[in-house]
Parts: sequence; C-alpha cells; structure tokens
Amino acid sequence: MWLIQSSIGRKVIMSVTGIFLILFLTFHSLMNIVVLFSAEAYNAVAGALGANWYAVIGTGVLALGFVVHILYALYLTWLNLKARGNDRYAVTQRQEGVSWASKNMLVLGIIVLGFLVLHMINFWTKMQLVELIHGSNWEAAGVHNPQDGAYFINELFSSPLYCILYIVWLVALWFHLTHGVWSSLHSIGLNNKTWMPRVKSISNVYSTIIVLLFMAIPVYFLLGFRVL
Ligand code: HEM
Repeated sequence: MWLIQSSIGRKVIMSVTGIFLILFLTFHSLMNIVVLFSAEAYNAVAGALGANWYAVIGTGVLALGFVVHILYALYLTWLNLKARGNDRYAVTQRQEGVSWASKNMLVLGIIVLGFLVLHMINFWTKMQLVELIHGSNWEAAGVHNPQDGAYFINELFSSPLYCILYIVWLVALWFHLTHGVWSSLHSIGLNNKTWMPRVKSISNVYSTIIVLLFMAIPVYFLLGFRVL
C-alpha cells in the first residue's frame, strides 16, 4: 500500500499521528492548568469529560494515534538502519542546518515514552484502572476516590523528586515537539521558502507554550504551593 511502501506515505503516517498527539497535549495541558486555580473545578471538568462519550471516544482515537506514532517510529528507524547497512557510521561530522533535536528524535521519543509509562503508573493505574476494576465500589477496595484527580496531583507533586523528574521529562518533550511540530507541518506541504521559517517559529512558540503549561504544575509545587 502507498501509505506504507513509499517514504512520503510513511512520513504522512508519522505527521498525522503526530498531529493527533499535539492535539491531545493541547487539551491535556489546558485542562491541567485549571487545577492551579481550583481543585473542585478541575475535578468537575475531568468528571464531565469522563462522562461524555464524545470525549471518551476522542481520547481513545488520540491514544491510538500515540501507539501508531511510536510503533511506526521504531519501524522506520529499523528500516533506515537496514538501508544504510555497514555504512551507517561513515558520516561522523556535524551536518550544517540539521538541528540536534532532528537527529535525536528516536532517543528523545524513547525518553518521552519511558516517562509516559511512569506517568501512567502515577495516575492511570490509580484512576481509570481502579474505575475499570471496581466501578463505583472503590471504597470497599480501600482506595482513594479515583475521580479525585486533584488529590492524586497534590499527592504526587508534594514530592520534590517527582517534580524534578517531570521537569526533565518536559524538557525532553520540548525538544521532541519543536522538531516534531515543524516536521509534521513540513510533511503536509507547508514547505516552500516563505513558509519554512514561519513554520519553524510556529513550532517553537507552540511547543514552548504547551511545555510551559505542563511545567507550571511541578514548578508551582516546588515553590511550596499546594492545590489542596
Ligand atoms: C505536569 C504535567 C502533567 C500532569 C499534572 C498530568 C496529569 C494527568 C492526570 C491527572 C491524568 C488522569 C486524568 C483522568 O483520568 O482524569 C493524566 C492522564 C494522562 N496523561 Fe497526563 N499529566 C501531565 C503531563 C502529561 C504529558 C506530558 C503527557 C504526554 C506526553 C501526558 C499523557 C497522559 C495520557 C496519555 C493520559 C491517559 C489518558 C487520559 O486520561 O486522558 N500527560 N495525566
């Protein structure tokens, strides 16, 4: 099939699933920031979204985008390594005009993914998984209310170690996004002389805003504030 066999087709898959990820991160970072203003409002928004089938299906589609993006990235790297064969170490000097992030997308992606697994253990297993297993009988299971996201955020970030780990994660995410947003816009055709520099600035500004929104939470806790 064209999408899988041609290199342009493969780039299209990476860009479209990447755009899904960027949308997910936009919603997620905007929603998180609510917790800094009101824990009740945060839980109410999360509860309303959790009870809305459109939002649940939307999250499911975006989550599928995550999985395709990651598996495809690994597959493409393997194809590239195979294509270069024994010559893969031949070029060692720095190439002009190639950013550090663009050369390290796989490594950055693996760091982002590793922390994502930790993030799922921190929140998903205590919230969605508990709801899936116990439904509304969570009290009998002796756990905290799985719909009280603000409580779990407060609990996790009260640890300075977790604040720092999340900041490291977000720095890696920033590098990955600055190149990723640029590359996805480039692949969908915004690649002429006029648009190239604009697209680069849009990617940098957009990625920086998303990462700063996320980072506001661990920084807020490191400064000694709490949300409960
Ligand atoms: C300080 C930053 C972050 C905080 C405080 C945070 C908080 C949360 C919370 C509370 C949940 C559970 C939501 C619920 O069930 O209502 C969640 C889920 C999730 N987070 Fe984050 N998150 C942060 C950063 C990130 C980043 C950077 C990513 C991706 C790279 C991410 C990806 C996800 C995913 C995939 C889920 C599961 C799907 C969902 O429930 O929407 N999060 N996060």
